[in-house]
Amino acid sequence: MIEPHGGKLVNRLVTGTRAAELEAESARLPAFRLDAFELSDLEMLSIGGFSPLEGFMTRADYDAVVHTMHLSNGLAWTLPVTLAVSSEEASELREGSRVALADAEGRRLGVLAIEDIFRADRQEEARQVFRTTEEAHPGVKYLYSRGEVYLGGRVELFRRPGHAFSHHRLDPAETRGIFAERGWNTVVGFQTRNPVHRAHEYIQKTALEIVDGLLLHPIAGETKSDDVSLEIRLRCYEALIENYYPRDRVVLSLNPASMRYAGPREAVFHALVRKNFGCTHFIVGRDHAGVGGYYGPYDAQKIFGEFDAGELGIAPLFFEHTFYCRACDGIASPKTCGHGKDSRITLSGTQVRSILREGGQLPREFTRPEVAAILQQAFQPVG
Ligand code: ADX
Repeated sequence: MIEPHGGKLVNRLVTGTRAAELEAESARLPAFRLDAFELSDLEMLSIGGFSPLEGFMTRADYDAVVHTMHLSNGLAWTLPVTLAVSSEEASELREGSRVALADAEGRRLGVLAIEDIFRADRQEEARQVFRTTEEAHPGVKYLYSRGEVYLGGRVELFRRPGHAFSHHRLDPAETRGIFAERGWNTVVGFQTRNPVHRAHEYIQKTALEIVDGLLLHPIAGETKSDDVSLEIRLRCYEALIENYYPRDRVVLSLNPASMRYAGPREAVFHALVRKNFGCTHFIVGRDHAGVGGYYGPYDAQKIFGEFDAGELGIAPLFFEHTFYCRACDGIASPKTCGHGKDSRITLSGTQVRSILREGGQLPREFTRPEVAAILQQAFQPVG
């Protein structure tokens, strides 16, 4: 089994007597309500999805990650994981003290041991992480909406954030257990935030030709408001697996993380997270984790070349833009098809949504009919 990033699978979720003690302590502490994005980060930290991180970043790690794509100990890591508060809130806090972490309803979930309180340069963070300071970028917009002071320190949880579809969520220790049980030596991870279409299926199955198993790992945390809902995406996946996949070679599990839309940096981050879940390989296709025209179509592949061989410890599998070609009568890419653009059927996410909103049919060359039916139903106007 592949080692987690940094060598040890982090677990900051306590049970039994320790959980009871922590809950009692948290009731006596001032509490911070985390937004949905921070809650998903908190959950990922606690279950080891972000190993080796054990909490929100301190200044040393934050600065190192923003400027060098490595933690202060030299380990590769590409995105900040931070907890933001306003200056007023920060003025009440002291390094070395402890605060309770709560969800939007004020339910206490755990405790943060504050090691560091520091002011972030959010413009610089945006420039480095998102390669833009424009607020039209959803990741930058969220960054600017947050408090300007970050609290760093280790977290400990006695209760997990509540959510829908909890039966579809496997922690890193659980996916690792399943892979071991099935005897898989090599597992490819697939990140997605969109409804599954045939190009996705093609790259997943192409990868399945060379590895033992596939972890379908759709994002279940925060996504942009116009992205398709989790429930619909999940139903699409279930229909696809039921009708088109060898079920014993696929594990479908929701990933609690939120989308950052950081393109290249997020592709590396996505790969490291999937390594923690036990994957040995990770698919990076066209414009991975991109949004609008902020990144070149293959920037998210090129960035892997900036790391030394072996330092990421998971093998990226790169795929070029994949489409249905009428002349080939099948899914292909520029690597396998010599026909012109006129033969290709491709649709962007925006085009798909507009076809569905207008009550149109998605071509079967683009989406499997079972999946198209679910999407069509979901987009039907109410009433
Ligand atoms: S993402 O934000 O999670 O990257 P999406 O769910 O659309 O968005 O993509 C999931 C994965 O499939 C990413 O690795 C992406 O690069 C890849 N991908 C999506 N569509 C295509 C396509 N037509 N050709 C090649 N790769 C694709």
